[in-house]
Amino acid sequence: MSEPRPTLPGTSPMSVPKFMAMKGQLRKLTMLTAYDTVFASIFDQAGVDSILVGDSLGMVVQGKSTTMPVTLDEMIYHGEIVVRAAKRALVIVDMPFMSYQVSPQQAVENAGRILKETGAAAVKLEGGIQQAETIRALAAADLPVMAHIGMRPQSVKKLGGMSKVQRDETTLISDAKAAEAAGAFGIVLELIPRGIAARITKELSIPTIGIGAGPDCDGQVLVSYDMLGLTEGFQPKFLKRYADLHQVALAATTQYLQEVREGQFPDAMHSHE
Ligand code: KIV
Repeated sequence: MSEPRPTLPGTSPMSVPKFMAMKGQLRKLTMLTAYDTVFASIFDQAGVDSILVGDSLGMVVQGKSTTMPVTLDEMIYHGEIVVRAAKRALVIVDMPFMSYQVSPQQAVENAGRILKETGAAAVKLEGGIQQAETIRALAAADLPVMAHIGMRPQSVKKLGGMSKVQRDETTLISDAKAAEAAGAFGIVLELIPRGIAARITKELSIPTIGIGAGPDCDGQVLVSYDMLGLTEGFQPKFLKRYADLHQVALAATTQYLQEVREGQFPDAMHSHE
């Protein structure tokens, strides 16, 4: 178990009730994914409200083509690292594929392991109406749970592609309402038309966090490696890259290789007498 999280000057750690209280506020909720100490500390220092240890780690960290191979032990490993680094942000850990789909009891056991072994505040699972019974069981066991509807990467084989905008308004509204009624404290809306996300946000009393769901959600999340321009070749319409860290790292590495090869590094300044 991790140690109690110290408070930064002028701030206090985010909690599930504080997160929920930001529903409908002018100041939008901010969320980014992180998988390690370096990025979790940077995002926490910048003041992000919530860090999601997403199972997107399967794609951006492990280089796999979907999130489906990610294991519960891998989520716990990365979750614990992020919780230790995040002094203020609300850390939420994704429940990976097949760690909750079998039964509500399986979900309670695995969510319990995640919270106990990482010290995270909450878990997230994919599904609305389909997972209502499971969300209810988690909430009844006092395990805070966030739902995730619209494009659900763990259901990519059924939905027919990672980048497919989900447009069935009736299904999306029923999924959102079922997740809220079952006790989810928040909900991610992924790749859905702006108008439907706005309607869900208006009709729900829990915060909605959008990714490719337009500006009317209560908050926004991006996969940090995409937002920072570390990943290449992925440019959906919704993604804004705020930096090009791939180029920065490539240029620095190229310069280092050249300086070592040519005997310019280490120079006197970087050598002990
Ligand atoms: O796994 C993840 O990073 C996510 C976000 C895209 C919301 O679920």
